[in-house]
Amino acid sequence: MTMIQRIGILTGGGDCPGLNAAIRGIGKAALFHDTEVIGICDGYQGLIENRTKKLTVPELSGILTRGGTILGTNNRCSPEKYYLGKDEAGNAIYENAVERCLATVKEHKLDVLFVIGGDGTFSCTKPLVEAGLPCIGVPKTIDNDIFGTDLTIGFTTATRIGTMALDRLHSTGDSHHRVMVCELMGRNAGWLTLASGLASGSDVILIPEIPFCIDKISAFVEERRNAHSGFSIIACAEGAHAIDGAPVVSQIIEGSPDPIRLGGIGRQIAFAIEERTGIESRTTTLGHIQRGGEPSATDRVLATTFGTAAFELALDGQFNTMIGLVDGHMQAQNILEAANKQRLVPHDSRFIRAARAMHTCFGD
Ligand code: F6P
Repeated sequence: MTMIQRIGILTGGGDCPGLNAAIRGIGKAALFHDTEVIGICDGYQGLIENRTKKLTVPELSGILTRGGTILGTNNRCSPEKYYLGKDEAGNAIYENAVERCLATVKEHKLDVLFVIGGDGTFSCTKPLVEAGLPCIGVPKTIDNDIFGTDLTIGFTTATRIGTMALDRLHSTGDSHHRVMVCELMGRNAGWLTLASGLASGSDVILIPEIPFCIDKISAFVEERRNAHSGFSIIACAEGAHAIDGAPVVSQIIEGSPDPIRLGGIGRQIAFAIEERTGIESRTTTLGHIQRGGEPSATDRVLATTFGTAAFELALDGQFNTMIGLVDGHMQAQNILEAANKQRLVPHDSRFIRAARAMHTCFGD
């Protein structure tokens, strides 16, 4: 067993329900092993700026059910690209702050850095790993798109929120005989929309992995209008796009490890359907509601299991790994491999086959 005297924990990237449960899982497992725990504030920004707080049992108690992260997070800052401000010409100035990160690690005598994050957060560990800092990753994201794990912290809660929203659109869409388009998050992966669409019995599911043809969707909703149903529910991923189109970009965040923010396709689809069919169409964009609030029981269990298993990896000396769940088993993956690949929905996915068997339209 490896001697671990002091560990650091940071949460990076977008927040999601279950982060606190993961912090508690790693933290309490460590404390009960007589290992000191240092929380890093606001992701890599806190590591660079040496902003930390000691975590003891009182700080880690009562947080299992809380959404967000008690440590704060950041999806705009990486060790190699720390934003310093703008020069006279208005151009952003960045500093390579890897040495500052290592200085914080040295000052707090951290034996291991636990990073709870997604592929962006994991890719930021590369220069730290190369400098000899042992890192261990815990996968979280509502997008569920991290390579090396079938499930990420936050996904099941976000799916529950997406499903609840789609369920509610059902009754209002039915009453007005409308087409109700609901845009969900997920970047360029369709897992969240696919699972929420399946759970709510949505009539149309649009995901980035299956480019759509708007005429096919229009013909499908027209057929439903003329049948007994009269209305249609469309679950649309923010990264969905037409066969001859590209994802709709809503914002570019300068300096972010993943600068593109998607959004707006839902409105475009509702407009195009109304134009083609004359059926009144409305759009709801769920946005950050999908990331807020308390974690589901499944996410609490997953985060606690991932957190404690990640600490076991440290005790085993299995560094530069990410804990993952593959076919129901916890497995250590290479953290940099997880950072470099993305897990998209395969076309032969059991979820897609189930939806198609329910006569769901994918617009293809
Ligand atoms: O990766 C998580 C996620 O919520 C994506 O689904 C979404 O595209 C993005 O983050 C939004 O980022 P931000 O919080 O910067 O708006």
